[in-house]
Amino acid sequence: MDTALVTRYESRTVESKRLYDAARRVIPGGVEGSIKHYSPYPLTFARAHGPLLQDVDGHEYVDYLLSFGALMLGHGHPAVVDATRRVWRDYGTSAFGLASPLEAQLAEVVQGFFPSVEELRFTNSGLEATLLAVRLGIAASGRDVVAKFEGHYHGGHEQVLVSVSPDLDRAGPARHPAAVPASLGLPEHFAQHTVVLPFNDYEACEAILTAERDRVGVVVMEPMEAGYVAADRAFVQQLRELTTRLGMVLVFDEVKTGFRVRLGGAQEYYGVKADLTALGKILGGGLPIGAVGGKREILELTSPLRKGGAVFHSGTFNGNPLSVSAGLATLELLKAPGVFQGVLDATDRLRRSIEQLGREAGFPVQTIGVGTVFDVLFSEGEVKNYRSRIAADKDSRLALDFLLMERGVFSKPLNRFSLSAAHGDDVIARTEEAFRDSFQSLRDLAAAT
Ligand SMILES: Cc1ncc(COP(=O)(O)O)c(C=O)c1O
Repeated sequence: MDTALVTRYESRTVESKRLYDAARRVIPGGVEGSIKHYSPYPLTFARAHGPLLQDVDGHEYVDYLLSFGALMLGHGHPAVVDATRRVWRDYGTSAFGLASPLEAQLAEVVQGFFPSVEELRFTNSGLEATLLAVRLGIAASGRDVVAKFEGHYHGGHEQVLVSVSPDLDRAGPARHPAAVPASLGLPEHFAQHTVVLPFNDYEACEAILTAERDRVGVVVMEPMEAGYVAADRAFVQQLRELTTRLGMVLVFDEVKTGFRVRLGGAQEYYGVKADLTALGKILGGGLPIGAVGGKREILELTSPLRKGGAVFHSGTFNGNPLSVSAGLATLELLKAPGVFQGVLDATDRLRRSIEQLGREAGFPVQTIGVGTVFDVLFSEGEVKNYRSRIAADKDSRLALDFLLMERGVFSKPLNRFSLSAAHGDDVIARTEEAFRDSFQSLRDLAAAT
């Protein structure tokens, strides 16, 4: 990246750097997750309110990271704060260990949004949700190979930590991708028991899954790759039919898309029903949560009442009342007339402005996404899947992200943009101005090099 941009970043974020250096002495890489890092070092934040973030150096940003899309009402929404306070007041604890009256209520609310969810189990994260979904799918189908799509992320557990963002020189043919481990420390077993599929290429998927029909029991997918590249409608429909025909359990990982693409997730958008659905993020209203819902006959495999053994699933904090109450408050608000539509409208407006401002500055900018999440790509080509997605010009995008930060707009560099109900007209207008200025500076930078 342009060295002047890095120098400016470093000079305006001195306190972030100091805290980052201190953290590195006790925390590997100074961050709590592989994807929480960016160079030269990530910001440290001190405060947030509604759509706004403040870093430890006192700079304010309109927040489009929104905790990786989890905060659909923005930061510290009074309804969420009150709901969690009520838990402390009424229950006197954050966790009974066993049930509170709230968890079955949230499960019913989720059923209302997702008609495919007949029963549901809570977990503490999206990762745990996809892990349980895969285990259920293997148990239900009796086959222990999992098919996943190249470029799809389902959290960092062994079975799906394959071909998440593979280097193309190791990734094999586009229509029959290789299984590339995405981490050190993964036993060989998992790459051998994972089949990798090309997204949005039905014929190739049909050929691979038909050939593997005796081994593959579960097909797991992000219905919108990386949260924003939509599956073609025909692709989803055909994959639904194929997996039914081949007796494979179809898992929709809606951790990102649930309550964000549509309130009923990608399944509402496509009008299809997955066998199992993994949820997380928005479901917890800003507190840790995950869930797996789906067909009763599959979910019942986890029931301790089951004769002849069960699928194991447990967790100390599963269904804890703080997360569940925050989720209930969030979903109730999102259901109120006009609220979700307002976020959809704001997203559309911002996307149109970004594309227009980018084009005016001479860049081939497209925004890609459905609902209240999108990404900004410097690319003229059609973006259909991982390989076409990574063909976009990353350097320009990275520079744009740093220019936007200087102008008070934040999403983690190279990350998607998510909106919330707190992103009103005023902050959208501020964001448009920041994009206008940033595109112009980017053009000046390009002209200078
Ligand atoms: C599609 C998808 N699945 C699963 C996960 C994992 O969720 P969590 O980070 O809550 O474990 C993520 C996280 O970003 C995700 O985007």
